[in-house]
Amino acid sequence: MVRDLLGGTEKVLDVGTVGGEKLVQLADAFGSATGIDIEPEMVETARHNLPVELLGRIDFRNGTARSTGMQDSSVEVVLNRHSVVDVPETARVLRPGGLFISQHVGERNLAAVVSPFGGQKFDGDQHPEIVRDSFLSNGFKVERFEEYDVDYEFLDLESLFFQIKAIGAYLPVELKFEHIAEALLRVVTGTATPVGRYRSNEHRWLTVARAG
Ligand SMILES: C[S@@+](CC[C@H](N)C(=O)[O-])C[C@H]1O[C@@H](n2cnc3c(N)ncnc32)[C@H](O)[C@@H]1O
Repeated sequence: MVRDLLGGTEKVLDVGTVGGEKLVQLADAFGSATGIDIEPEMVETARHNLPVELLGRIDFRNGTARSTGMQDSSVEVVLNRHSVVDVPETARVLRPGGLFISQHVGERNLAAVVSPFGGQKFDGDQHPEIVRDSFLSNGFKVERFEEYDVDYEFLDLESLFFQIKAIGAYLPVELKFEHIAEALLRVVTGTATPVGRYRSNEHRWLTVARAG
């Protein structure tokens, strides 16, 4: 979808780029890009992994959603996949008519996995509906604002437990076996399929907003 919205020549900013994996995959769809991440080690990894043929077209820098280090009106597209959104900074760096495109994890994500623990916590000011309203009040036109669920299956128990550990900080319980044994049992029995997999869902929000 991002590829469809790009014209092959744009200057792109990717916020929360991690190791630049997604940005590099899209390299055929834009002119040049900067990927920023709050974690300096991620920036180092992204620089290290950048294919040599993309040197000069993509660069990676340390920066935050609030302080991207980009000049005013210097980019045509801001991408943000699962990172922090700062609307005033996005408005500052985008040229008039430029696009903000994001995908974010929704509050129903992995419902059958997180509900036995009491649900997953989300940062209030980053809720997609609050972010959308902020775009509207900053003079953006919100062209797409959609949510969707897709099936998500863990192929084995180890992968399911790996994911629970990975989101542990967002669960309202301490991940100590004595605190979570009963919840774990409910997750396993509630998600198990007849073929030994564990089924849940992914809930995502898509936002496409155009700068005024
Ligand atoms: C879940 S990862 C998403 C990675 C990548 N965009 C992707 O979709 O594969 C979120 C990234 O955002 C970065 N991050 C978190 N807070 C940030 C902030 N305020 N400004 C910039 N990056 C941030 C984290 O360091 C992490 O690399």
